[in-house]
Amino acid sequence: MKSNLKLSINQDIIDTYEGDVPKHIGVIMDGNGRWAQERGMIRIRGHHEGAKTVRTVVESCRYLGCEALTLYAFSAQNWGRPEDEVKGLMSLFDLYIKKERKTILDNGIQLRVIGDRSKLGPKLISAIEGLEEISKDNSDMILQVAVSYGGREEIIRAAKIIAEKATRNEIDTDQIDEHMLASAMYSPDLPDPELIVRTSGEFRVSNFLTWQSAYSEFFVSDLYWPDFDEEEFVKALKSFGDRQRRFGKTGEQISKEDSSK
Ligand code: FPP
Repeated sequence: MKSNLKLSINQDIIDTYEGDVPKHIGVIMDGNGRWAQERGMIRIRGHHEGAKTVRTVVESCRYLGCEALTLYAFSAQNWGRPEDEVKGLMSLFDLYIKKERKTILDNGIQLRVIGDRSKLGPKLISAIEGLEEISKDNSDMILQVAVSYGGREEIIRAAKIIAEKATRNEIDTDQIDEHMLASAMYSPDLPDPELIVRTSGEFRVSNFLTWQSAYSEFFVSDLYWPDFDEEEFVKALKSFGDRQRRFGKTGEQISKEDSSK
């Protein structure tokens, strides 16, 4: 029930969206660095400002009743950034977990972190695992944060899981199909993202949810992530709501299927 939620967003703006709510939304949060640099600030200031937008989008999705939200916070390739930026981002993730713990728990949200966490420091791993454990029975929304994550890396990991099963003769290679691959991804229980939003005007997928985004709709916002707000989020939803998703079929077939529902 919406009235039980403890949220700080502008709900009136979100209420202007009346269309179907995507079950799963993915977000590529881009433009923090440029936002800061254009204001003569160091890049990490942009990431801190971006964390405020994270709160807006998490709360908006919870308010709308999305089942899942996946945020691309740090890619497998981001380890190659300057050391001070990497350190700053890791501290920011740690701070986020502490600061947002109450909002996550108060609003029935389950936290999951996907990616290669073996590369994270022990303090951050323990903070992540603590909140994952305490929120694991929350079922109102899943907030999935991709950290040290790459879509190709996730597929390689899945291939290894399946190859190990084949080596142990638990499966026959003829049984390997789309369903088995999907089951070996980080969150096989989640639907594929119906909508992926990317900020800062760049039309790139950047190794995000490579397997799961096969049929995702994309919305590219010209705003930098720290400037992304409820209004722009509604624009993304409206754009999604106006599209006909065909999954390889013709428009006529889909219209017929829709009218027989
Ligand atoms: C990409 O912008 C953004 C990142 C690599 C980090 C995203 C992290 C946050 C929004 C911080 C908070 C996140 C959580 C989940 C607490 P960029 O730095 O590549 O921007 P640029 O293209 O302008 O350089």
